[in-house]
Amino acid sequence: MKLENPKNLIVVIFGASGDLASRKLLPAIYSLRIQNMLPDKYAIIGTGRSMLSNAEFRNKMKESILSFSEIQNHEQSHLEDFIQCLTYHTMDVSSPASYEKLKGIMVETGKKVGADGNYIFYMATPPFMFESISVNLAKAGLADQSAGFRRFIIEKPFGYDLESSRTLNTNLHEVISEDQIFRIDHYLGKETVQNLLVMRFANGIFEPLWNRNYIHRVEITSAESIGVGSRGGYYDSAGALRDMLQNHLLQLTGMTAMEPPASMEPESIRNEIHKVLQSLQPIRETDVPKQVIRGQYTGSVIRGECINGYRFEKGVAQDSRTETFVAVKFFINNWRWGGVPFYIRTGKRMPAQVTEIVIYFKRTPHALFPRENENMTANQLIIRIQPDEGILLKFDMKEPGSGFNLKNVNMDFHYKDLTDIRIPSAYERLLFDVMQGDSTLFSRDDTIETAWKFIEPVQRAWVNNPSIKVYGYPAGTWGPERSGNIIDGCGLTWRYPCRNLIEDGTYCEL
Ligand SMILES: NC(=O)c1ccc[n+]([C@@H]2O[C@H](COP(=O)([O-])OP(=O)(O)OC[C@H]3O[C@@H](n4cnc5c(N)ncnc54)[C@H](OP(=O)(O)O)[C@@H]3O)[C@@H](O)[C@H]2O)c1
Repeated sequence: MKLENPKNLIVVIFGASGDLASRKLLPAIYSLRIQNMLPDKYAIIGTGRSMLSNAEFRNKMKESILSFSEIQNHEQSHLEDFIQCLTYHTMDVSSPASYEKLKGIMVETGKKVGADGNYIFYMATPPFMFESISVNLAKAGLADQSAGFRRFIIEKPFGYDLESSRTLNTNLHEVISEDQIFRIDHYLGKETVQNLLVMRFANGIFEPLWNRNYIHRVEITSAESIGVGSRGGYYDSAGALRDMLQNHLLQLTGMTAMEPPASMEPESIRNEIHKVLQSLQPIRETDVPKQVIRGQYTGSVIRGECINGYRFEKGVAQDSRTETFVAVKFFINNWRWGGVPFYIRTGKRMPAQVTEIVIYFKRTPHALFPRENENMTANQLIIRIQPDEGILLKFDMKEPGSGFNLKNVNMDFHYKDLTDIRIPSAYERLLFDVMQGDSTLFSRDDTIETAWKFIEPVQRAWVNNPSIKVYGYPAGTWGPERSGNIIDGCGLTWRYPCRNLIEDGTYCEL
């Protein structure tokens, strides 16, 4: 694929006064600037409802960059130069008239910096605004690509269910084409996720084992130690199934289970991910209680601190049945994976902030050496997505001394051991990809819809059958105990990653 190297660029951020822009977007753009990865001629226009002057916006973003940028040792002069490239425009995005004004500002800004064609529009607003912003930009002539590219970055969630995601896609396609839309799933911007492709398809040793003949089960966990924070209002209408599983976890499933792509072209890779999601065995509504466990955190004390239960969080209904934890068992109906159970779970207020994929290999055909639980497998390959990105292989060795006592040991690779290499943040990587026109790591319309289609029976069952339980779990634990019951096999459980408390973000593997 031929990547573009644009000579000029204007980035317009809708929702620039919000949390995402401050914590992630501006620090990521600044990182690109520091590494000379932005075009020479560039400008950033932030918009929001808040009344902010340019100076106030610049100060706010300067503070954000100082607090959240992953690049330390900022040269003060670089930061000052960068800040001067930011402007702020107060606008109500629901008013069509305000887009003509925005267009004028963009033209003016373009003249000042010599950027006359390429625009990226980043939608960091509440999701219900994505459609109207795109329509209004198109009406103002800002989606027309004759003078340069016009790319639209859309944040999750992409719809609320199958129907609303279809409507969103259809309405977006009326004004912009699919290749102008970059649906951001920041999990895919993480280095280890991309490394899955390299690990699987650049090495000869894994792929022959990567199938139903050798793999017993696959487990994907994305745990957060934080609660809903200030986003209780949003979260209570979303829940873990919509907020995490429908997008991040199914995308990770796609990358883990996909066939080798014909090439590294974006469409080639995205086709393979989509095929995996198309092959997911539908969960019948009647099987939801057996295959899906939902939970909600309750109050507890963690390291001496009293933690509120979910129903006592700000913005959350006191009788809320929204899940802060969900675990699902499913199968992929294809030749590679037929019969291999996949278990995926995600939750808030768990003991650690961790995302990992665990491949459990089958046991040896005959057990020569006695072990405590014959069901246990010696071999696990653990792909750590965050934090402490890396890969860990577990296997059995002989304990020194008499007899044949087994010890399960680790072969552990940490990305951070590549000392000269800084791992770019996911947003940094993904924003750079948008600039270059590389859509590989962005979710495609059909894949999003297929993912919604898969979880639809779960959503339906939860609405139609109030007797399906929401299990409580104390904040700071690995979710409801009941979630262990969906794992097939006597004595088998989820993996419980243990975070080392030495504070450097490394794991201590037991
Ligand atoms: N924060 C995260 O870590 C995160 C992670 C993943 C995805 N997302 C997604 O990113 C988007 C933004 O999230 P956020 O956490 O940054 O939300 P937020 O802090 O509530 O910010 C929302 C932004 O939208 C602006 N806005 C709201 N109504 C507007 C209107 N009528 N006209 C113009 N601007 C308006 C707000 O402006 P004012 O504040 O000036 O009113 C603010 O700048 C959401 O879609 C969210 O789902 C966020």
